[in-house]
Amino acid sequence: MTASTASRSHELTVVEVITETPDAVSLVLAAAHDAREHFTYQAGQFLTLRIPATDGAVSRCYSLSSSPSADEHLKVTVKRTSGGLASNWLCDHATAGMTLESLTPAGAFTVRPAESELIFVAAGSGITPVISMIRAVLLQSGRRVTLVYANRDRESVIFAAELTELLAAHDDRLTVAHWLESESGLPTPAALRTLLPAAPGAETAAYLCGPAAFMDVAAAALHNAGVAREHVHREVFVSLATDAFAAPEPAAGNASAADSATATVEIDGDTHEISWPRGEVLLDALLNQGIDAPYACREGNCGACAYTLRQGEVSMRVNDTLDDYELGIGVRLACQSLPESDRLTAVFDR
Ligand SMILES: Cc1cc2nc3c(=O)[nH]c(=O)nc-3n(C[C@H](O)[C@H](O)[C@H](O)COP(=O)(O)OP(=O)(O)OC[C@H]3O[C@@H](n4cnc5c(N)ncnc54)[C@H](O)[C@@H]3O)c2cc1C
Ligand code: FES
Repeated sequence: MTASTASRSHELTVVEVITETPDAVSLVLAAAHDAREHFTYQAGQFLTLRIPATDGAVSRCYSLSSSPSADEHLKVTVKRTSGGLASNWLCDHATAGMTLESLTPAGAFTVRPAESELIFVAAGSGITPVISMIRAVLLQSGRRVTLVYANRDRESVIFAAELTELLAAHDDRLTVAHWLESESGLPTPAALRTLLPAAPGAETAAYLCGPAAFMDVAAAALHNAGVAREHVHREVFVSLATDAFAAPEPAAGNASAADSATATVEIDGDTHEISWPRGEVLLDALLNQGIDAPYACREGNCGACAYTLRQGEVSMRVNDTLDDYELGIGVRLACQSLPESDRLTAVFDR
């Protein structure tokens, strides 16, 4: 653990390992008593774990499959990726009693509060954030929910029993449709369309999680059903290429006032006025000035560092996660933002 991640990195104890399917395990995780306050989360968010894989430690994100309002402990669910370092290590070696280093929960893939009906489309391990969101929505609101869940075959279906229980408890407003590749082949937009509500309302929101090609098919089906593009949100599962637990690169030198913008940054209830060097991304500017900002990948693809730009303009080096709707309402990635104005206001409210 490094100084910069010290306040966001904590040891979690594996309380239980649950075999979900032949290819997937859930790890039930507990934070030490004095760290619990750092592990409050919203349904749909993820943990970034440091996994001591065979050829050296790697950082990987895993969505929380537990429910923030109903479960005492945290839970992540890991599906084997063929040839993958971390997923196979966890499926083969995770045992109750071991500890794993984890960054605090992060991510912007969460249900927007509204009264509209919701559609979730998941494939394989993409069910992980989705089951947490569905449970939260059913517990905390009266919204109607449709889940379309695609898998290779029946034995690959993660949370089959839990979904059956949820259906029994909420059959008036939960609909679950399974798509099994072993029986129906690869899904097409036309075939998935038949599993969606016949006439979704104008405000219906959809949340997609699965392989990119599957999400493209699901997005086309939703488009055919009349769900507005700006209400379709995606979570992309990729492996981090960098060490999320490492310190950021130090700033190249003291930038002069002329080379810096001025930013007002609201974060965790505090307001900071910082000098933001023009060649430095916002995340590094904050961390270098001792301000504890959230991040995981630092590559523009996980959304952990998302903030809302209230004043000024930035350019982003990479953006693999924010959609047009989020960009339109001012959401930006701190790990990719360079200042284009002299004065900016950034609020970490995601
Ligand atoms: C926000 C977020 C949430 C996520 N949530 C979950 C979740 O809930 N559950 C889940 O199971 N996963 C989740 N993931 C994915 C997870 O983080 C990992 O990407 C996944 O477990 C695979 O990691 P791995 O180390 O096993 O595979 P990796 O070692 O990263 O390998 C991935 C693939 O690339 C291939 N590969 C690796 N190195 C090379 C190379 N040098 N050349 C060619 N091919 C190579 C491997 O063979 C493998 O097929 C999430 C990711 C993100 C970003
Ligand atoms: S830290 Fe992942 S997008 Fe910025």
